[in-house]
Amino acid sequence: MFVTVCKDYDEMSRKAAAMVARLVRAKPDAVLGFATGSSPLGLYQELVRMHKEEGLDFSRVTTFNLDEYCGLPPDHPQSYRYFMNENLFNHINVPMERTHVPDGMAEDWRAHCAEYEEMIRQAGGIDLQILGIGSDGHIAFNEPGSSLGSRTRRVFLTRQTIEDNSRFFERKEDVPTSAISMGVATILEARTCVMVVNGTNKAEALAAAVEGPITSMITASALQMHPDTHVFCDEAAASRLTMREYYDWISHQMEADG
Ligand code: F6R
Repeated sequence: MFVTVCKDYDEMSRKAAAMVARLVRAKPDAVLGFATGSSPLGLYQELVRMHKEEGLDFSRVTTFNLDEYCGLPPDHPQSYRYFMNENLFNHINVPMERTHVPDGMAEDWRAHCAEYEEMIRQAGGIDLQILGIGSDGHIAFNEPGSSLGSRTRRVFLTRQTIEDNSRFFERKEDVPTSAISMGVATILEARTCVMVVNGTNKAEALAAAVEGPITSMITASALQMHPDTHVFCDEAAASRLTMREYYDWISHQMEADG
């Protein structure tokens, strides 16, 4: 994993967005994987800025989101489809029909999950997957104990995730308890993974994911097996990393090499 410690959230967002922009310029029909949540918000704002001010063109891009809450329709303000439309898709020129978010209202969720995986395959696979990390070390909604070989499926959220996400809902009872989520193995098939991590509450999870053993108890640790994962984090999130000096040194070398 390549770890870049940034001075703050803005720098983290800009550096991660720059990687997305580089790919989209080099491969205009790139397939991008997106995450929701607070971690990638700044990254999406930067992509919107680059689209508006620098003409970054998303007209041939295809997108797949990691997950969606079960039981929330696309127009529900807390649904991940709504989040993506509001924070990114409505502000760039990606054709809406090329954006994919799992359908949390699917009646036959097994068939829907298989179809979602098939659509990713048909699109040629995901070139670059944006990820956040949960305070329990999850990626997408792959909670502790999820198989590292898991594929897109229906999952149940842990109490911790429900607690973490309750800030977005009026009452804790309103937080959905299950979701459709890409699996760990689905994510590992992306050619490049970019994980954005900020805040002290993520420090332990990040250290476990990057420097701990590979374990289904911290599903983000599976990224250690991925050949091209880039972590962009702020100082607070980096505070528990023991190899910090080495990561800084590599980042400087890589910047110098262009
Ligand atoms: C959301 C997702 C989750 C979040 C994680 C962190 O699509 O995949 O794994 O990335 O829960 O959420 P935030 O960024 O809100 O702290």
